[in-house]
Amino acid sequence: MSNNNGAAVNANNIVLRTDNLTKEIKMGEVTVQALRGVSLTVGRGEFLGIIGPSGSGKSTLLGLIGGLDTPTQGRIYIDGEDITDLNEVELTRVRNEKIGFVFQFFNLVPTLTALENVALPIQFARKAKYSPHKRAKELLGLFGLGDRMNHRPSQLSGGQQQRVAIARALANNPPLLMCDEPTGNLDSASSELVMNTLRDVQRATGTTVLIVTHDMGVASQVDRLVTLIDGQIANDVDPRSTAQKMAVQMLKEKRKTGEIAAPPQQ
Ligand SMILES: Nc1ncnc2c1ncn2[C@@H]1O[C@H](COP(=O)(O)OP(=O)(O)O)[C@@H](O)[C@H]1O
Ligand SMILES: [Mg+2]
Repeated sequence: MSNNNGAAVNANNIVLRTDNLTKEIKMGEVTVQALRGVSLTVGRGEFLGIIGPSGSGKSTLLGLIGGLDTPTQGRIYIDGEDITDLNEVELTRVRNEKIGFVFQFFNLVPTLTALENVALPIQFARKAKYSPHKRAKELLGLFGLGDRMNHRPSQLSGGQQQRVAIARALANNPPLLMCDEPTGNLDSASSELVMNTLRDVQRATGTTVLIVTHDMGVASQVDRLVTLIDGQIANDVDPRSTAQKMAVQMLKEKRKTGEIAAPPQQ
């Protein structure tokens, strides 16, 4: 099997697969086709972005992958498990163990400290793999927040809150981390810090990181960028190699017109 990037994908190394997903949303007399046949295969350890205009179906797709909503048609596989027909109890287990969520507005519990926020998903895990506070301390330490563990969200900057949220999402070491506009509410310095944190996580742990974004700066940093338009995948490329190809093409054309001198013959 291969994804649209042409990279070989071994079945065991597939973390997420959607098969011809459609989602129709009825609003009175009108039916909106939020997704029209989305087939997407994502391998273990990929650093992937999803971009698309407002209303193109990005949040709908994330909601289906995260088991927050059910598709009209099609199937969803997470870490080899078909989650399409699971009941609410089973979906809660999948969300707790297999998927970490990071949101634009952090969604931390305001009355809990950073440490308690990160420990929470471990306390909810059916078969916890970690001691909650020990794991939370380790993660916050890794993210440079060792001296902020006992702070509440309101006592932290946006960038710090988002890194606490990433630590919380990773608490149970899920194979898939899904981020919906993770830098959408941050200044550029904090955005860079959060993107670096996500990249470090992917490199250090092999977690698959999937980032929905509007921000071209963010989109240009991923290894694979999927463009959604009108509920369909319009493009699936490596943005950096695409940018490079475009630059080479432009250079060739400018040399042809004489705007840029040809290189000296060796
Ligand atoms: N709960 C809903 N009720 C009605 N229409 C919805 C609902 N959720 C999404 N839609 C419609 O589905 C389409 C895709 O929306 P969405 O997934 O939110 O797009 P995006 O996240 O890319 O902005 C849009 O046309 C939107 O208006
Ligand atoms: Mg959205």
